[in-house]
Amino acid sequence: MATLANCAAASHLVAKEKLASLSTESTFLGLQLHGHGQNAVRMINKVSKSHAIATSIRANAVAAPVETLKPADGKKTMTKSSCIITGASSGLGLATAKALTESGEWHVVMACRDFLKAEKAAKSVGLPKGSYTVMHLDLASLESVRQFVTNFRNSGMPLDVLVCNAAVYFPTAKEPTFSAEGFELSVATNHLGHFLLARLLLEDLEKSQSKAKRLIIVGSITGNTNTLAGNIPPKANLGDLRGLSGGLNGVNASPMIDGGAFDGAKAYKDSKVCNMLTMQEFHRRYHEKTGIAFTSLYPGCIATTGLFRSHIPLFRTLFPPFQKYITKGFVSEEESGKRLAQVVSDPSLSKSGVYWSWNNDSSSFENVLSEEASNQDKAKKVWEISEKLVGLE
Ligand SMILES: NC(=O)c1ccc[n+]([C@@H]2O[C@H](COP(=O)([O-])OP(=O)(O)OC[C@H]3O[C@@H](n4cnc5c(N)ncnc54)[C@H](OP(=O)(O)O)[C@@H]3O)[C@@H](O)[C@H]2O)c1
Repeated sequence: MATLANCAAASHLVAKEKLASLSTESTFLGLQLHGHGQNAVRMINKVSKSHAIATSIRANAVAAPVETLKPADGKKTMTKSSCIITGASSGLGLATAKALTESGEWHVVMACRDFLKAEKAAKSVGLPKGSYTVMHLDLASLESVRQFVTNFRNSGMPLDVLVCNAAVYFPTAKEPTFSAEGFELSVATNHLGHFLLARLLLEDLEKSQSKAKRLIIVGSITGNTNTLAGNIPPKANLGDLRGLSGGLNGVNASPMIDGGAFDGAKAYKDSKVCNMLTMQEFHRRYHEKTGIAFTSLYPGCIATTGLFRSHIPLFRTLFPPFQKYITKGFVSEEESGKRLAQVVSDPSLSKSGVYWSWNNDSSSFENVLSEEASNQDKAKKVWEISEKLVGLE
């Protein structure tokens, strides 16, 4: 686990532009620090300057310095790229963190609501020591999202890729539950929390010196009614967005985006439609201006993850073999992690505005979204209402 001393060190990794004139290789506290892309070392010499910043970071949100690779031949060195993954404490997020850190080219910030669980998970899958940092983030609290952004900035780490992966799913809930700000919990966590996070971190991504700066929002087949899986009731449908406009509070507005009666499975699917619409709206508004690639994906049916934790036990027992042997849509957590890691880092998946999927032979392709999940007018409206709900307007 990182310490406040690490924080002090991390806060010495200052903004790239200030340091463009420094040499491309330097040593600090025994670490080799090297250029990140074209610009150079992120370091300043005076430890005392960082003290105030370091102590302001919450104890459960500490950060380690970004490491560098130093190949055995000692000839070339390379700074690791930096990627934030929300919900990296299990399932797809954890498997992606593993795939990225094992490549030796990435430092992963595990943005998780349960610090200890994330630390244990990282150790249980053997994430290489020093290749990751756990930072606290509860997407069901907009205050926590803002605090996370402050903590991340205080760490001094650059941001090359943001992966909005975390999600909750309440298929058997009879009654809605609500976030800190009083929004229905699945849309609050899966969409609104990520919407605020991505909007705030856009300027950090823009500063990335990487040629492959990316913002990825994990989508799902279940939100796409142009598929067999997306046609299993209850189907995703955002309607005229009257519930979302009303604040999804279940008091003077429906907890459902379309204004209907609460249905936990539908709320999840609707939130995934919002994820895919948001990715496209980001692409239209910011791709040309910033060079950031905005993408989404369906990683496959990862039937063993914690996503299904609140489903009935019989479902959890039968779902994996059903997907494996009947639909043949089953994807292991390891394989799904490799897929998302591809979207993070593979140069051939750098196109913006794409919803990626994979064939059975694990080759990627640009998938087609449903009519609703690609509706530009709806994307604009979801964007504008979400801005109001998260306080960005
Ligand atoms: N499993 C599938 O078949 C499948 C298919 C298509 C798409 N997906 C998508 O894949 C992504 C990952 O899901 P998964 O299957 O890997 O499920 P998972 O194992 O349950 O992982 C979800 C992660 O989200 C985190 N999380 C939940 N609420 C949070 C909050 N308020 N703040 C911060 N983190 C929170 C969880 O944290 P805790 O560990 O603390 O609970 C967990 O780390 C989701 O976007 C899901 O929609 C999954």
